[in-house]
Amino acid sequence: MEHKTINIQYTESESFSEVPEQDQELLSAAAKSAASAYAPYSGFGVGAAIRLSSGRIITGNNQENAAYPSGLCAERVALFYASAMFPDEKVETIAVTVKTESGRITDPVAPCGACRQVIAEYENRQNKEIKIIFSGETGRVITMNGIQNLLPITFNSNNLNQGK
Ligand code: THU
Repeated sequence: MEHKTINIQYTESESFSEVPEQDQELLSAAAKSAASAYAPYSGFGVGAAIRLSSGRIITGNNQENAAYPSGLCAERVALFYASAMFPDEKVETIAVTVKTESGRITDPVAPCGACRQVIAEYENRQNKEIKIIFSGETGRVITMNGIQNLLPITFNSNNLNQGK
C-alpha cells in the first residue's frame, strides 16, 4: 500500500490589472459575453472566451431552460462551438467570468465538474494543455496551466480503449 499526493499548481492574481494583457483581453471578452447570457432562472450570467491557435477568439455564455437540466454552461457552449466550427484549431486558453445584477461576486467562478470533463476531452484530443483562467466580477483571478490542476485522475479515451 502506498499513500500518494497530487500537487495542484495555480497562479492567483490580486486583480484583473495584474494578469498578462492577453489574458485580460480574454477575460474582458468573457465578461462581455456573460452580459448577454440567457440566465433568467438563476440570474447568474456566466461568460467564457476561448483563444484558438489561430488567435481567433470564440465566446459563449450559459443558456438556461425552463426544464432546468436542459440548459448548458457557458464553457461548454463556447467549447462545442469552437470544436464544431474550427475542428482543426487548438484551444490555447479559456477564460471564465460572471455577471450578476448585484455585481457582488468577488470569488473566482471555477468551471463546474461537467465542464472540466469537457476541457479534459479537448486537451486529450489536441495533445496540448489548455490554460484556464477564471474570476468573479471583481477581485482575484486564478490561472491554471492544464486541466490536471482542476480535474486530476480523469476518465478519458484510454479507459475506453482498454476495454476493447
Ligand atoms: N454555470 C456555468 O455557465 N458555468 C459553470 O461552470 C458553472 C455554472 C451556469 C449554469 C447555470 O445557468 C448557472 O450558471 C447557475 O448554475
